[in-house]
Amino acid sequence: MLIAHISDLHIRPRGELAYGVAETNVLAERAINALLRLRPRPDLVVLTGDATDCGLEEEFAILRSLLARLPMPVYAVPGNHDRRDAMRECFREGGYMAPTGYLNYVVETRPVRIISLDSLVPGASHGALAPETLTFLADALETAPEVPTIVCLHHPPVLCGIAHMDRIRLLEGAEEFATLIGRHPQVERILTGHHHRPIVTRFAGTLCQIAPSVAHQVALDLTADGPSAFVLEPPAFLLHHWTREAGLVTHMAYVDRAPGPFPFVLPEEYPGHS
Ligand SMILES: [Fe+2]
Ligand SMILES: [Fe+2]
Repeated sequence: MLIAHISDLHIRPRGELAYGVAETNVLAERAINALLRLRPRPDLVVLTGDATDCGLEEEFAILRSLLARLPMPVYAVPGNHDRRDAMRECFREGGYMAPTGYLNYVVETRPVRIISLDSLVPGASHGALAPETLTFLADALETAPEVPTIVCLHHPPVLCGIAHMDRIRLLEGAEEFATLIGRHPQVERILTGHHHRPIVTRFAGTLCQIAPSVAHQVALDLTADGPSAFVLEPPAFLLHHWTREAGLVTHMAYVDRAPGPFPFVLPEEYPGHS
């Protein structure tokens, strides 16, 4: 099973840039092209939030037309830049989001099962898991304790050392979330976005994997008072590959094409020939 994981597209109305700099719509289109080039083709795509920059219907309409090019299903969770009902409407045809309330759902795929959680707090940048969402998670984890599971949400529940992002991580419900996850060893990964960088760390007996953005990246600044800033480093996404032999293995892939691949051909007299 192959799961492509994209995050933080920050789609804007046509012709507008994110923060006056990032051409996020063009970058999102490139990301879709990169997904379409993949062989083998991913079975599905997870999108860990900030699909749009301002949650506008116009932005979601652009997102929808971009995602329509993908032949596989896309399972999205809302980020702080999205708006719950506009996202619900955008993904209505998928049939997996509830008609009202939080955007929590389970995708009963196999061999890996997906639990998606809504950590959006309207008008705020940090994340929260409401009591209702935590109950949803507890029930979902109890239902299939033998099935390898990934849990997707936008806000990382961990500290990463980038101070301004740590201040807006998952703040409410985070302890209860850790307790629940810690009780369920079938959880292979917590998959998040929000930090616009590839970051991995232990969390509650599993791995928390933060995806890079397919648009702009947050500046790598581990100083205690680093300013909130972004850079146009190469956009990237994650590929989570499940095999029975190896379990879940995560690769990072760049959106842009690079020269190659070149064969490892060594000249006859190459030093180090073995
Ligand atoms: Fe974002
Ligand atoms: Fe975010």
